[in-house]
Amino acid sequence: APAVIVAIDGPSGTGKSSTSKAVAAQLGLSYLDTGAQYRAITWWMVTNGIDTDDPHAVAAAAGKPEIVSGTDPAAPTITVDGTDVAGPIRTQEVTSKVSAVSAVPEVRARITELQRTIAAGAPQGIVVEGRDIGTTVLPDADLKIFLTASAEARAARRSGELKGADVNVTREALIKRDAADSSRKTSPLAKADDAVEVDTTELTLPQVIECVVTLVEEKR
Ligand code: C5P
Repeated sequence: APAVIVAIDGPSGTGKSSTSKAVAAQLGLSYLDTGAQYRAITWWMVTNGIDTDDPHAVAAAAGKPEIVSGTDPAAPTITVDGTDVAGPIRTQEVTSKVSAVSAVPEVRARITELQRTIAAGAPQGIVVEGRDIGTTVLPDADLKIFLTASAEARAARRSGELKGADVNVTREALIKRDAADSSRKTSPLAKADDAVEVDTTELTLPQVIECVVTLVEEKR
């Protein structure tokens, strides 16, 4: 079968990562978490004392870190200048700063190029998850999925992952980050016109996975 490119976009807490990894594993495809790449560059900015609220400083530094993603869905990896940052990119500090960093056009240009190179090099094809994959990064993807869920469901899932997190605080932080990601000028979070929208509010994870696997198989 020819390589198949699947774009999965949507806000946080919709089950994007779990779904994308499982679909890629089931179908023998590569997997790319583009949010991890934006988190990695944000982690580098924070670690190197760059003021993430200063778009000029962020733009000037955007080309410096080398970000490498491992695309095995069973064990995805992310390194910055050779350092494994899978843990540090999930901290509250990085999460609260990633929207500002990823809104900077120089950051997006750099990471988008990386993403296209990785997708083009995946032998069987790839599942790429993010916010602007169907609209900007891979507009010719074979299948585009846009995952949604109510804010309540998303906050409940996220605070379940972050053990002991307050669901109301999580909900407010989620809504704030989605609003920032959706309203930025360059490549905002958006559903592509030709994307299939899947509302996961009332679905279990296995149901969402099955739904997406079926849609991919129809395209193959
Ligand atoms: O998916 P995750 O929550 O890890 O993404 C972290 C952040 O990275 C998002 O809130 C968004 O600011 C940014 N992002 C982006 N474009 C993508 C993927 C993520 O701007 N394709």
